[in-house]
Amino acid sequence: MRQQTTPRHHAMRTLPLLLALAMGMTAATAAGGDAPAPDQRAAAAVAAMTLDEKIQTVFGYFSTDFKGTARPKDGVPFTAGFIAGVERLGIPHQQLTDAGMGVATQPSEQPRARTALPAGIATAASWNPALAYAGGAMIGQEARLSGHNVMLVGGVNLQREPRNGRNFEYAGEDPLLSGVMVGEAIRGVQSNHVVATVKHFAYNNQETGRTKVDVRIGDAAGRMSDLLAFQIAIERGDPGAVMCGYNLVNGFYACENDYLLNQVLKRDWGYKGYVMSDWGATHSTIPAALNGLDQQSGWPFDLSPYFNGALKEAVENGHVPPARLDDMARRILRAMYANGLMEHPVRVEPEKIDVAASAAVSQAAAEEGIVLLKNDKGLLPLTNTYTTIAIIGGHADVGVLSGGGSSQVYPAGGSPVPNEGPASFPGPTVYLPSSPLKALAARLHAKFVYHDGKDAAAAAKVAAGSDLAIVFATQWTAESLDQPDLSLPNRQDETIAAVAAAGKPTVVVLETGSPVTMPWLGAVDAVLAAWYPGSSGGEAIARVLTGEVDASGRLPATFPRSVAQLPRARVDGTGLPEAARFSTDYNIEGAAVGYKWFEKKGHQPLFAFGHGLSYTSFSYTGLSAKADGGAIAVRFKTANTGKRAGKAVPQVYVSKVGAGWEAPKRLGGWDKLALAPGQSGESRIGIDPRVLAVFDTRANQWRIAAGEYVVTLAEAADKPVATVKVRLPARAFAAGAR
Ligand code: GLC
Repeated sequence: MRQQTTPRHHAMRTLPLLLALAMGMTAATAAGGDAPAPDQRAAAAVAAMTLDEKIQTVFGYFSTDFKGTARPKDGVPFTAGFIAGVERLGIPHQQLTDAGMGVATQPSEQPRARTALPAGIATAASWNPALAYAGGAMIGQEARLSGHNVMLVGGVNLQREPRNGRNFEYAGEDPLLSGVMVGEAIRGVQSNHVVATVKHFAYNNQETGRTKVDVRIGDAAGRMSDLLAFQIAIERGDPGAVMCGYNLVNGFYACENDYLLNQVLKRDWGYKGYVMSDWGATHSTIPAALNGLDQQSGWPFDLSPYFNGALKEAVENGHVPPARLDDMARRILRAMYANGLMEHPVRVEPEKIDVAASAAVSQAAAEEGIVLLKNDKGLLPLTNTYTTIAIIGGHADVGVLSGGGSSQVYPAGGSPVPNEGPASFPGPTVYLPSSPLKALAARLHAKFVYHDGKDAAAAAKVAAGSDLAIVFATQWTAESLDQPDLSLPNRQDETIAAVAAAGKPTVVVLETGSPVTMPWLGAVDAVLAAWYPGSSGGEAIARVLTGEVDASGRLPATFPRSVAQLPRARVDGTGLPEAARFSTDYNIEGAAVGYKWFEKKGHQPLFAFGHGLSYTSFSYTGLSAKADGGAIAVRFKTANTGKRAGKAVPQVYVSKVGAGWEAPKRLGGWDKLALAPGQSGESRIGIDPRVLAVFDTRANQWRIAAGEYVVTLAEAADKPVATVKVRLPARAFAAGAR
């Protein structure tokens, strides 16, 4: 006799009560009190569920016709995912959409037109958590108005590999900056009663062989780098779901990795949400269920429907305890209750979006994410003194570049540059119709001459006939592909050098997803990193170039001088057959990611983490730091000493006097202050204790060693302004504490 998980007679008798509890309709609620806690409601709902309803809840479909399987009829067409709800229990369908830059559409003839935020790395470059939140709130609203209640955002994988094709979706190389910025974006999305994810847990830091690569990394090194970024993002954003990644970690697939999912995420960090797989990242039934996966995503991406009939049988045969299936379903429902999905159902028919309001949010993030890398002769901001301005390359006459893959947001009217890039996934290359040339022409009275830049000599001739040349250089990066090197593609370095050699003032605007090398740097007068600047990117670039807004972005990732400076000369797996399994050893750098690696090895980068120029100048005074309840409290003042309004991004780094850390210093905090000329502002920053600690795997604890620490106030990792010393007592605290 098969053991029923919920004896029918029992369920029938108590169903009304359970239903009421699940639906939060207790007497207290009826009297206007608080609905029962999400945990209670989820537990009640699961208790009222049949076995089949629980299985239905943990097994997700791709909501796009794929591999001969039609999408579920109730799923939103051409979107990421669908899981059927349980109507009798008031549980809605889960309607999933990608991704971090806005409401994406899977490749289709008629993609939805939605607002694209600038790339995640651009929002990170703003160092402005409020902008990250606002961006998340905007795309979460567009997701809701498009019929979605789950949004697959929150890419927080550290930039260990500057050639990684998905760096544009993430937030750079530092765990604190990444965790804070992505955590805020997650919080913004969920403010719309939409469940957000954080992804891809963990160590999915390259695209080459992403489903085959086995990442080797020690526990302590991971806890102080990639895992810390996830931990901070989860603390700040409280995402309903964590998406486990494609790769293996120390021999086990991330989506059936007991260490990652059960030990670190659920035990040490006390995570109460659910783990969904990436699309095609589920590899088993029993190991996956027992090792912490709660939902298989995107059927038929995987080889088998592991969490459908096979899971039901595993539960009925006792290979997966019924309590574990209950836990899986309960985690999913808890996330839905906690984010108000039951009380705020999404509509099937798309609702009207305030496109202008969305565009303003995107533009604000793009403007503050643009980094002024070089401006030696003060050529920028541009004045109205030019007769002829040459605009060269980057399709700057019609739009700005965006990154490729599952996060692709499509513009109204389609890409103004058709038929570029691969025809199939992760292509095609999509430009967003926000023309830098048009936006500049609306602000400067010059005559504008556009040249596509493909022929360097011809482009140089156009430059020679102008008073100023602005070259737009592009690097299309995308999911599933890594860059072969750090060079701009399509001989753009030649074009830039030729244009600069024409002898006219020359500005370079980079639209890239990652750091790039610049062999022409000495020959040009100014360089802006605009990344993929989103739906209003042309306007944002023009406003920064003309000084309507200050250049206030700061690099969230180091720009290397060459690949020789990197932990790995080549991306591991490069050139191997598609099916080849291989490993990559992150123990080479360990927790010393990015600037930490460069400082540990004594490498001089092209541009340092935190670098970015302003059109005004700032002074810093009154730096003080004191031990504060196991952490450090830092105070200082910033003043605008220039003639223009501007935004300062003072950074605080911490160092341990003596040995024990992975690198000389770590980012401990920062502020961003908008200051008028002559105005000053005070900053008070609390250094996260984990940034002062080393993780002790044996004790499974963070440990701050007693002794002296140096607090450095800086304008960039390589631009210290002032230092002060602090003595700290020894302190140990739990893996999930601060
Ligand atoms: C993709 C990506 C993931 C995305 C998912 C759904 O392969 O890795 O970020 O959310 O599948 O499209």
